Amino acid sequence: MAFDKNQFDDIIREFTVDGGRLREIAADFRYDLQKGLENPAESSLRMLKSYVGLPTGAETGEYLALDFGGTNVRVLRIRLEGNGKFEVVRKVAKPLKVEGIYDFIGEGSTAEQMFDFIAGLVDEAVDGDHSTKYLLGHTFSFPSEQTNLYNAKLIIWTKEFATSGVEGQVVNDLLKAALHRQGLDNVEPTAVINDTVAVLLAAAYKQPDVYIGSIYATGHNTCYLEPYADSAEQPMILNLESGGFMKLIPNRLDQEFDQNSEKPGEQRLEKMVSGRYMGELFGMALAELLQEKGRSYGFTSIDMSNIILDDSAARSKTAEIVAAKTGHTLEKADCEMVQQLAQTLVIRSARLVTASYVGIIWQLAGSGKPQKQHIAIDGSVYEKMPLAKENILRALSELLGEEAADIDTVLENGGSGLGAAIAAAMSQK
Ligand code: BGC
Repeated sequence: MAFDKNQFDDIIREFTVDGGRLREIAADFRYDLQKGLENPAESSLRMLKSYVGLPTGAETGEYLALDFGGTNVRVLRIRLEGNGKFEVVRKVAKPLKVEGIYDFIGEGSTAEQMFDFIAGLVDEAVDGDHSTKYLLGHTFSFPSEQTNLYNAKLIIWTKEFATSGVEGQVVNDLLKAALHRQGLDNVEPTAVINDTVAVLLAAAYKQPDVYIGSIYATGHNTCYLEPYADSAEQPMILNLESGGFMKLIPNRLDQEFDQNSEKPGEQRLEKMVSGRYMGELFGMALAELLQEKGRSYGFTSIDMSNIILDDSAARSKTAEIVAAKTGHTLEKADCEMVQQLAQTLVIRSARLVTASYVGIIWQLAGSGKPQKQHIAIDGSVYEKMPLAKENILRALSELLGEEAADIDTVLENGGSGLGAAIAAAMSQK
């Protein structure tokens, strides 16, 4: 079958963000930041307080870190050695859902079941030791309203989680109760942070000049250190929940996809950029080209990555992936269009994410020159998706011109665990 070239061009156009639009999005993001600081009700950014600033790098001691933010939950025992050094002493990880066996993230599961499962993992991480005292830092990567470093209430599930009885609850209370049921009263949760905050803490533990932390993975979100320059307030990291940013122009497919998602109307930016959703949008667009509108075939961002990387002469890898998911066998010319579609989606994603970073950089700079800085990013899309990183850098230059020379991005791999340990250490102050 040969794709309809006009239809293909239209789809590519719909997924393209040109320079003018990119600049408008960055400016709108900055506007929402300003509004969010003055009056959060007028902003599409939640601007959630974390009750933590940046670490000094001199934090030391052994802590437990719970990293809970996607299907895979990890518990680590981490020794902070100061001077930006640390060692992971023990690490256990398990998925919250194994198809056909158990599922703690679906609607049918309860908060108790989910946290009992997590407490079981904590037990493994301490090797069944029910007497040594441990402080636990909890990276909980969902929008949560905090009143202090311990107390965070889940506002709303994202990333298609649906476990009942967690929204509106203080997550560390649920965890604490489960630890108690497990006989782990020696483990004390003292801090809960978003994964973006964890990334920023982890990066700032190791190096100076980091003020923005971001996750670019299954989900997407960014935090930054708000200096509160003209007020008596201490500098504090704010979790923007930027995945909820609204001032975008979602195209037809974005809108259709949103309507069929677990939470329509929520997380509009996230649904356009993150790994959890990109594969689905790609599949929806491909279905139109295959004249099977309405299907999406279950493509993942890993499929997209493999398609983009296919440099075989006949584009046979692409043909194979598409055939396995859709049942259609494509000619080389169509496979090349499929590759271009995947590239276009990744490039759009990277550009939108960058517009949000630049909105923050402009806001922090005020009317002056942006500060020299590293933007700390963790996540599979940033780390592994071809074209993501280079398009972030390209969009930074496009928006910041020469000033982009002072700004780069750093991979903060595993920041969710390390950041949780640092937050636990900082909770003692
Ligand atoms: C959540 C954020 C989180 C991000 C990355 C989003 O769905 O709302 O809290 O930081 O995913 O994990």
